[in-house]
Amino acid sequence: MVAPTDSYRHWTLLVLWLRLVSYICATNVDPAVLDACPGYNAQNVKTEGGTLTADLTLAGEACNVFGEDLTALSLRVDYETKDRIHLKIVDANSSRYEVPESVFPRPSNQAVSPDSASIQFNFTTSPFTFSIYRSSSQEVLFSTASHPIIFEPQYLRVKTNLPDNANIYGFGEHTNPFHLPTDNMTLTLWSKESPGLPTGTNLYGNHPVYFEHRTTGTHGVFFLNSNGMDVKLSNTGGTSLEYNAIGGVMDYYFLAGSESDPAEVARQYAEVAGLPAEVAYWSFGFHQCRFGYKDFVNVAEVISKYAAAGIPLETMWTDIDYMDRRRIFTVDPQFFPMNRMRDVVDYLHSHDQHFILMTDPAVAYLPDDPGYLSFHRGKDLNVYLKADNGSDFIAIVWPGVTVYPDWFNPNVTEFWNNEFREFYDPETGLDIDGAWIDMNEPSNFCNLPCDDPFQQARDQGLPPPRTSSPPDPNAPIFQNDSQSQLARRDDILNPPYAINNAAGPLSSKTSMTNATHANGLQEYDVHNLYGMMMSIATRTAMLARRPGKRPLIITRSTFAGVGAHVGKWLGDNISLWEQYRFSIGGMLNFATIFQVPMVGSDICGFNGNTTETLCARWATLGAFYPFMRNHNEIHANDQEYYLWPSVTQAAKSSMDIRYRLMDYFYTAFHQAHTDGTPVLHPLWFKYPKDANTFSLDLQFFFGDSILVSPVTEENSTSVDIYLPDDIFYNFTSLAPVEGTGSNVSLTNIDFTTIPVHIKGGVVLPLRVESAMTTTELRKKDFEFVVATGQDGTASGRLYIDDGESIEPSQMTTVDMSFKEGKLDIKGTFDFPTGVNVARVRFLNVEKAPKKVKVNGKTLGHSRIKHDATNKVLDVTVDVAFDKDLSLELS
Ligand code: NOJ
Repeated sequence: MVAPTDSYRHWTLLVLWLRLVSYICATNVDPAVLDACPGYNAQNVKTEGGTLTADLTLAGEACNVFGEDLTALSLRVDYETKDRIHLKIVDANSSRYEVPESVFPRPSNQAVSPDSASIQFNFTTSPFTFSIYRSSSQEVLFSTASHPIIFEPQYLRVKTNLPDNANIYGFGEHTNPFHLPTDNMTLTLWSKESPGLPTGTNLYGNHPVYFEHRTTGTHGVFFLNSNGMDVKLSNTGGTSLEYNAIGGVMDYYFLAGSESDPAEVARQYAEVAGLPAEVAYWSFGFHQCRFGYKDFVNVAEVISKYAAAGIPLETMWTDIDYMDRRRIFTVDPQFFPMNRMRDVVDYLHSHDQHFILMTDPAVAYLPDDPGYLSFHRGKDLNVYLKADNGSDFIAIVWPGVTVYPDWFNPNVTEFWNNEFREFYDPETGLDIDGAWIDMNEPSNFCNLPCDDPFQQARDQGLPPPRTSSPPDPNAPIFQNDSQSQLARRDDILNPPYAINNAAGPLSSKTSMTNATHANGLQEYDVHNLYGMMMSIATRTAMLARRPGKRPLIITRSTFAGVGAHVGKWLGDNISLWEQYRFSIGGMLNFATIFQVPMVGSDICGFNGNTTETLCARWATLGAFYPFMRNHNEIHANDQEYYLWPSVTQAAKSSMDIRYRLMDYFYTAFHQAHTDGTPVLHPLWFKYPKDANTFSLDLQFFFGDSILVSPVTEENSTSVDIYLPDDIFYNFTSLAPVEGTGSNVSLTNIDFTTIPVHIKGGVVLPLRVESAMTTTELRKKDFEFVVATGQDGTASGRLYIDDGESIEPSQMTTVDMSFKEGKLDIKGTFDFPTGVNVARVRFLNVEKAPKKVKVNGKTLGHSRIKHDATNKVLDVTVDVAFDKDLSLELS
């Protein structure tokens, strides 16, 4: 949202206007001018083991395109692991801003020998150019040859040639296709409030990482830099990729990836960016939210209606509506009184459900109101971000005039922890189970030059008055149920190279770039870290409230590495089919490339009114988002699933699949947390040699083996999907479906279902039935589905723990494997589940076997059923889950 009183149409116009401004502001320089810059010569090159250092000196007359070329640079290259090279170029004469270690801890350097490395660094000295190539094939992966490096105080350029029409993925946050077009594409990284998620513009988060895929392998490149930047892809004169950053240093990690398994590069990126934080089991249940719940009665009503409709509701959320005049850490005494909100939370908890509230960063600026303690406590600790003149930086957000916590301030942890502890106190406050953090780009409604934020806040009518009358306070509810030596910058408000910021000037709609943090860092450098740092602070505060328990925290603004702390939702989308479609690419970016697996988009759409058919389809697609939440905005019509029969049915049937697969997905998430293997996979991850898959971004794998292929066109009941050359199984009938590496038309897909296939080769662990809460679900028996692959074998894994401890004391890890008619389920069963294996279903079985033995004992015929049409052999087992099990077919 840009301004709370604006309607959907107004902000659409505003977005268009801002895009025009940014178009005018963005810098366009003839690439030939940049390529004519002198570059640097390398001298004094020294190598020692896996480390190379050199002095770089300007190789000719300075080109001074956006400032004066630095004359002397230092280069250092480290072979950090056998699959990772770290290259850094800094100013030889003075220190410059670098992303602080406290925000992005550097991976350790294992100092390997180049001989053992799977990628190599090569260079020329006059001029200095470098390339990275694959040791085994000598294939060049990155090369600056013919594109001189440019290093000016506020402009850094590195440009590499790429194979023609290279397959590039990543560089977010954006809503462009997942498979990035290489023709004249600019990706801008500068955190920005982004209503409607306009394609082709910078959005909330910043992830300067890409994976490039070739049939010969997949590798990755991460540019560790938090300054604003444009990354340009172009096909002019051959495909190229160019970084244009307005500060920081050249700090690159080259990841070898692998020649056969694309997931390998994801794991290698996780070694740099950090392994994703594990979330609690309940986090994968269904979340309901909206901006605009009127009062506590309304919130309670929604909870009751979900129960009445029989739709599982795991977590109820409340947006800023609950706040007193939109001030964080307060409740509105009439509309959301504390005692009644506590009733709501108690009710949820007593029904094994959960509760999450919005916490914005901006604190209402109320020096003259002694009653707003949060502001004063922050003021006493002096934790607010400072303007250029040293006073608190004043912005406008929901409550009107506000200040921002400075996440670099040494007192900010004390402030934030204390506010969380007090307001979210289980005994006296709201006992939240997770946190929702928003507006942390940070967003600012004050229009530049923002001379009088007080007047602008009044003009914008902030905070808006309530339009309904308060409920009866006793209304019955639930009746039925530090780097100080920074180089001086010439112009940090309007740097000479203007990145293509869709909001126009860098400070537009956010903090001023000259606002200063307690450690001296300025927003110019660390703007892109604000959401990341709020995420870290909020995780710390949540852990202080409930030590040892995995918190669910969902943020809007992100930076590389944020997944190690929190999850992310994709922000303010629109209830449009196009946005339903591109939510898949957005989610793949975060889950597959950026190492932020807990991700989802607002189901049914945030802005504008949804339609029954869109909401029904979106409910089914959303059941395969890692983070599944229905949410919309204050001016839009209600869109809870129970409001339309078809949507109710769509939600129930798709959630039925999701809940039954919950342990399978939980296992995938645990794996991601252990080694960075993505929880979602684009098709090319699984079929890296099949070029038909490279640009597919409307189908994806949920976990390793569940292929999701939603209907993608408005009001259509058919979809053409791509099935690679492999064997699949229809999730509903379990009948085999032969993939032939071509498109297949699926028809008559009613609005309550979504095509789901099992990829052959897996033993899937499922719960025998779904449940209304994840607590109840964990009491259901297991079943295993043996879906053999083309070679007739199948395998799988199941991980179980208490579902909430950061360091669980008891864990169950089971490996399932099927080969030559025998299924072995073996593992360590330390976590007592108390459930049984109810049955095993073997797929693609032409004829019923004569005998089925369970743990060596032949089963009676009544426990074996064979469905010849779908080729499914159904064996009733009913033995305790918590020990090894074998089934033999003969
Ligand atoms: C903007 C967020 O993106 C949206 O999800 C939320 O509803 C509003 N802020 C109000 O808090």
